Amino acid sequence: MKNVLSLALLAALPAAFAQQTAYGQCGGVTWTGATTCVSGYYCSYGNAYYSQCVPGTASTTTSTTAAVTSSTTTSRSSSSTTLVTSSTTTSATVSASACPTAFTSISAQSFITNMNPGWNLGNTLDAVPDETSWGNILTPASVFDDVKAKGFKGVRLPAPEPVTWADHFSTSSPSWTVTPAWMDRVETVVDYALARGLYVILNVHHDSWEWADFSASGANITMIEEKFVSLWTQIGTRFKCKSSLLAFEPLNEPVGTTAEHGAQMNRMNMLFLKTIRAVGGYNAQRVVTLVGLGEDSIKTSQWFEFPSGYESQPWALQYHYYSPYMFTFGAWGATTWGSDADKTTMEADIAGMRANFTDVPLIIGEWNAFAANTENAARWKYYDHLMKLGVKYNTATVLWVTGWDDLNRSTHVWRNEVDVNIVISGTKGIANSLPDSTTDTSATTQSSSAFIFHKVGDAVSAQTLPFQLNGNTVSSIKSSAKTLVAGTDYSVSGANIVFATSYLSTLYSATTAAGILDTLNVTFSAGAGSQIQVVQWDVPTLSTTTSKAVTGTDLYIPITWKGYNHIAAVRALKADGTYLFDDWTVYLPALQQARITYGQYGWDSSNAILWAAVQTAVVSAGQATTFMFEFFPRVPGNSVNYTLTV
Ligand SMILES: *[C@@H]1O[C@H](CO)[C@@H](O)[C@H](O)[C@H]1NC(C)=O
Ligand SMILES: *[C@@H]1O[C@H](CO)[C@@H](O)[C@H](O)[C@H]1NC(C)=O
Ligand SMILES: *[C@@H]1O[C@H](CO)[C@@H](O)[C@H](O)[C@H]1NC(C)=O
Ligand SMILES: *[C@@H]1O[C@H](CO)[C@@H](O)[C@H](O)[C@H]1NC(C)=O
Ligand SMILES: *[C@@H]1O[C@H](CO)[C@@H](O)[C@H](O)[C@H]1NC(C)=O
Repeated sequence: MKNVLSLALLAALPAAFAQQTAYGQCGGVTWTGATTCVSGYYCSYGNAYYSQCVPGTASTTTSTTAAVTSSTTTSRSSSSTTLVTSSTTTSATVSASACPTAFTSISAQSFITNMNPGWNLGNTLDAVPDETSWGNILTPASVFDDVKAKGFKGVRLPAPEPVTWADHFSTSSPSWTVTPAWMDRVETVVDYALARGLYVILNVHHDSWEWADFSASGANITMIEEKFVSLWTQIGTRFKCKSSLLAFEPLNEPVGTTAEHGAQMNRMNMLFLKTIRAVGGYNAQRVVTLVGLGEDSIKTSQWFEFPSGYESQPWALQYHYYSPYMFTFGAWGATTWGSDADKTTMEADIAGMRANFTDVPLIIGEWNAFAANTENAARWKYYDHLMKLGVKYNTATVLWVTGWDDLNRSTHVWRNEVDVNIVISGTKGIANSLPDSTTDTSATTQSSSAFIFHKVGDAVSAQTLPFQLNGNTVSSIKSSAKTLVAGTDYSVSGANIVFATSYLSTLYSATTAAGILDTLNVTFSAGAGSQIQVVQWDVPTLSTTTSKAVTGTDLYIPITWKGYNHIAAVRALKADGTYLFDDWTVYLPALQQARITYGQYGWDSSNAILWAAVQTAVVSAGQATTFMFEFFPRVPGNSVNYTLTV
């Protein structure tokens, strides 16, 4: 995962197709269209699933001429290599004279099993230029107490999460020396996690699209390999005596699109293994999680080669999962998840990766459907199903978080506690009960049992919320005021929880002011508890409804929220009726057509926000554009319009 807002990334791809129009999609693992942009725009990498044509010119960190080194091809058949995949821990104690403490060998499968579920210390050690640059505090040791107490077994970091090293090279010669202060800092954070018995994956993170982008046009492969070897020599040396709870990952989400790039990543895996072993210590027995191109299942399946010559090294394969992009990233109005088709697609992905690598320990090192841009019930179904499939296909998972979404590292408060509780119990194979929600994408209204929505002005009446109980029964429902009385305040009928008019009347009336009135905690006979937010709602209002578009400027539109402060989707229609972005969304269901993507829009406690690229696009289009902001509940009328003129 890269911070989409903070990095301008380039993907200089071969011009195999016609050029993509301004702001159109130009890349992503399932993308088959144009990968270059019209003049004045370049293809900016957003994430593994989405690149977009944005104004400007790609900047590259290397301007040298390519000296493409062909890689040695190794057999991808597992029968030609002896994998260390036994599911039991071997208790052999190995000694290395240079290390002060003994080392307990562990198989890659045991490591992966033992660290499940894992948690990423995202946007922290990998932040640019420094640990606190993306809004997180200097990581305190207590973060790992919180993570462990919650039930996570491991953390992915460059020390307990992804680290970006490129910003910490010494400026003096030799230029590829990591500053001692940074190496100390990473070691401190790694030690915090190891000391708590957490399994740790340390990696080289955003470097993959900075100096280590071997797919960039003109990339100097010799230089990249030299730098990569230099970096892993330094990291390998510093951490060579750490316990077997520490694993290494060579490079996060290596960028590329072709078989040649895939082969280059295989070569990087081999260089990595050679390098860490050469510096000694316990590195030859240390678990590593190797990666394929993009760290996505498809390119990894296509091009990853088993490392030959390193049969004794315990290794697992890591990939990342954020599919479907449109749901997990809040693109094109995709606010539902959980239909049979959605579940089948997810299962095909997880089962397919397992089938492609039958005897390899597998770990999904990053995944999430972000709370900021998803609807609660849809997200909880997604979380739960992925955990189920992880158990079914023996694949460990490591949740990606940024510090703004789940654990508040200062206050130790989990902001979306239901999310993590689903992960913890789901990983144990325990059935969770979940609020149901609309899954039919062609529906014109969407309901969710994660909320009791009541509109200002409506009479109070009983509310029926369908759940997926999954074999459990409802144990208790608590409001901030009391424990609800079953049979009086609510009743359970089949899989429905029915809240009585008499009880709801104690929470709101037709004239209660809009807002979140309470949160009901629901517990079940097994699995994670759930929450129902009680929302009195009305249609939010904007302080102004039009302005002239200004290139390159973020637009903050003051908003008066009336209920649940969350934008569900934004539709952008030009005056002539065509779409501002992504014309092809005409083929999507009605609630998705012409909708733009979270990240193009946002909100805070008092504003609806259109980020700069949107105003720029309106100016480029040369036409007034009307933005329809839609809110939850997604029902007709719960929206407001704003027009940008030119
Ligand atoms: C590529 O990098 C290597 C190693 O740093 C350097 O010796 C070589 O001159 C570079 N090649 C070009 C064409 O700049
Ligand atoms: C399994 O490998 C095949 C062949 O490379 C590929 O088409 C398929 O997408 C892979 N499955 C997954 C889930 O990536
Ligand atoms: C954590 O909570 C504190 C207190 O509510 C708040 O000031 C801070 O912004 C939060 N941190 C993050 C990263 O959200
Ligand atoms: C509901 O659960 C949350 C934790 O998930 C807790 O902070 C809150 O106090 C609980 N509220 C009630 C009314 O029990
Ligand atoms: C917003 O504009 C659309 C047409 O683009 C229209 O159908 C809808 O009624 C408008 N909504 C409001 C609240 O004016």
